[in-house]
Amino acid sequence: MGYFVKAKQEKAIWLQKAKDMEGLLNVSSEDVKLQVHIIELDESDLKLIHAFKDTIEPQVEDIVDSFYVTILQVPELKEIINKHSTVEKLRKTLISHMLSLFNGVIDDQFVELRKKVAKTHYRIGLQPRWYPSGFQSVQNFLQKLVFEHSKNGEEQQMLISAIGKKLNLEQQLVLEAYEAENVRVRENQ
Ligand code: HEM
Repeated sequence: MGYFVKAKQEKAIWLQKAKDMEGLLNVSSEDVKLQVHIIELDESDLKLIHAFKDTIEPQVEDIVDSFYVTILQVPELKEIINKHSTVEKLRKTLISHMLSLFNGVIDDQFVELRKKVAKTHYRIGLQPRWYPSGFQSVQNFLQKLVFEHSKNGEEQQMLISAIGKKLNLEQQLVLEAYEAENVRVRENQ
């Protein structure tokens, strides 16, 4: 006779903590509202992400370092970085960018900042396809953190889903602004 040993289900600490966190979703653009709606991102996702920020903070340098290990393997990307900046400078920029993704807020300033990131990347000639691929290494790292810090199946699933939605919106906004910049520059020419 065999026994099936069920993995111990621990308490959902982050879902509990999320109840007291700020989660603000307030954008004026009708297009962005629709994008948010389509991916089913809501304030409860933002609260949960915000609650998890304490776990991300001590790890954010490692997240960013692993991002650079990945992208520096591509000669084209290494060349762009060395031409326009340094890994040391960009590390700092990316650390604060990553942390800002976990402050539980999506507002007009969030949207504007993504447009600025797109314009900067466009100016330095970074092909848009590298943006989502760079994010995959970040997302892999974050998923690992979720499994290390939550031992509750439902909570793990909700954290991964909330993080995935926010990163997805970020990429949508940046890629869209990239395309808008492309059109603007072509029209000017
Ligand atoms: C996860 C994807 C990425 C994120 C979140 C990100 C984020 C940022 C941010 C926030 C800035 C500052 C923008 C500004 O304030 O104007 C920036 C600048 C920059 N990024 Fe990225 N980036 C990403 C991918 C890449 C990749 C793959 C490269 C490879 C070449 C790259 C190269 C640069 C460079 C060189 C600058 C500085 C440009 C300048 O100041 O002249 N980024 N990035």
